[in-house]
Amino acid sequence: MSTGLTLNKITAQKGISIAEATSRVADLGWTPTYVQEAETFPTDYRISKIPRDPMKQVLRSYFPMQEEKDNRVYGALDAALRGDMFRNVEPRWVEWMKLFLAIIPFPEISAARAMAMVARLAPGEELRTGFTMQMVDEFRHSTIQMNLKKWYMENYIDPAGFDITEKAFGKCYASTIGRQFGEGFICGDAITSANVYLTVVAETAFTNTLFVAMPSEAARNGDYALPTVFLSVQSDESRHIGNGHSMLMAMINDPSNHQLLERDLKYAFWQNHAIVDAAIGTFIEYGTTNRDKNKESYVELWHRWIYEDYYRTYMLPLEKYGIKIHHDDVAAAWDRLVKKNYVHKIAQFFAVGWPVNFWRIEAQTEKDFEWFEHKYPGWYAEFGDFWKWYARKSVPGQTNMLFDQDNGYVYPHRCWSCMCPCVIREDFCVGEVDGKLYTYCSEQCKWTHTVAFQAEYEGRPTPAMGRFKGQRVWEDC
Ligand SMILES: [Fe+2]
Ligand SMILES: [Fe+2]
Ligand SMILES: [Zn+2]
Repeated sequence: MSTGLTLNKITAQKGISIAEATSRVADLGWTPTYVQEAETFPTDYRISKIPRDPMKQVLRSYFPMQEEKDNRVYGALDAALRGDMFRNVEPRWVEWMKLFLAIIPFPEISAARAMAMVARLAPGEELRTGFTMQMVDEFRHSTIQMNLKKWYMENYIDPAGFDITEKAFGKCYASTIGRQFGEGFICGDAITSANVYLTVVAETAFTNTLFVAMPSEAARNGDYALPTVFLSVQSDESRHIGNGHSMLMAMINDPSNHQLLERDLKYAFWQNHAIVDAAIGTFIEYGTTNRDKNKESYVELWHRWIYEDYYRTYMLPLEKYGIKIHHDDVAAAWDRLVKKNYVHKIAQFFAVGWPVNFWRIEAQTEKDFEWFEHKYPGWYAEFGDFWKWYARKSVPGQTNMLFDQDNGYVYPHRCWSCMCPCVIREDFCVGEVDGKLYTYCSEQCKWTHTVAFQAEYEGRPTPAMGRFKGQRVWEDC
């Protein structure tokens, strides 16, 4: 390489077409014939068809595009400061960001690791390049989100909490629910985790709630920094969804994969629902001060994005390839949200331990009660007294009781699969694995541990699947 060759000079060179560049990159790949390739990240799937990269991304177009995205974000953060954002932002909202930004960089960096795994597994050079760029995207997501919380810490009037989020993430009874989300991207069978759980389900279905609904609610609360960062993150997501779909199609091509795909779609959908709905549902519904009755509630958004867009237009068409779709789990998730008050019960759980948390949850007021009753009829009868009690107990500067029995709140068991608290008492169940008893939030989570994550699935050996083992839950630490 000649001296003085910089990235700018490379990208300024007269270009060949993207299609030609993609095929030249593909020429650089090879499969060694003189050694047996060790399987670094095992999978029980058979990938015999070479997936295509629908985006045909090459570095020359990738880096300038990403650089511009980053520049826009940093420019917007400066503008937010000059526009005095922190004088107008709602404190209730920023407090919840301490919890949210403690959690989210971890799944992002886990996604980067997942892409490193799946890039090695994908046969052919095309998608391997696509996954590698997705890996770089995910590094960008994790670091830009870390930068955002540093920025809040430097500029917000009450930085306490933002300063310890990295340390607190593994030590707080609430933030650990985000662990299973990120660990799911990298644990067990490499295709199950990196492709089905992360790309086909988390990115395709649930990132809308994370990266579109959260920013809208942030803007309603005077926070213009979070939307800038998260919409920049979301702009990479369509490429990721394309990568995942391409890999999925390569696997569907081989009928021997169908049994595992059915297992993994069921596992991944339920876990994503249990974790993302718990966290994001609560942040949006309880972290906001905007009680406009015309805006969509979390469950209305869920119906549009998860039920209509994902279930009806992405999952159902897989049936024509012979994949059995778990319709009853989609209905069960919906029932947990609308009939069993899943989000509201998780919000209670997050709230009751606030004196030991690194953020403070503001009590809900009459105005909030009215909105909740309008959007979730019956809410007031079940939760009104709790939040009135909470308002009396959460006065700053006073001694507060933790998991107070006055109002009948009993600390729930933890679910061994999704790591969320088992807040829907009627769905709570127990299972046995290797002679040990475990608690679960639902039958689906019990199935995940006792059936899906075992060495054998429906009589078929699944050595790559891995186990849910070790010190997984906060209560054991
Ligand atoms: Fe990401
Ligand atoms: Fe992604
Ligand atoms: Zn669970």
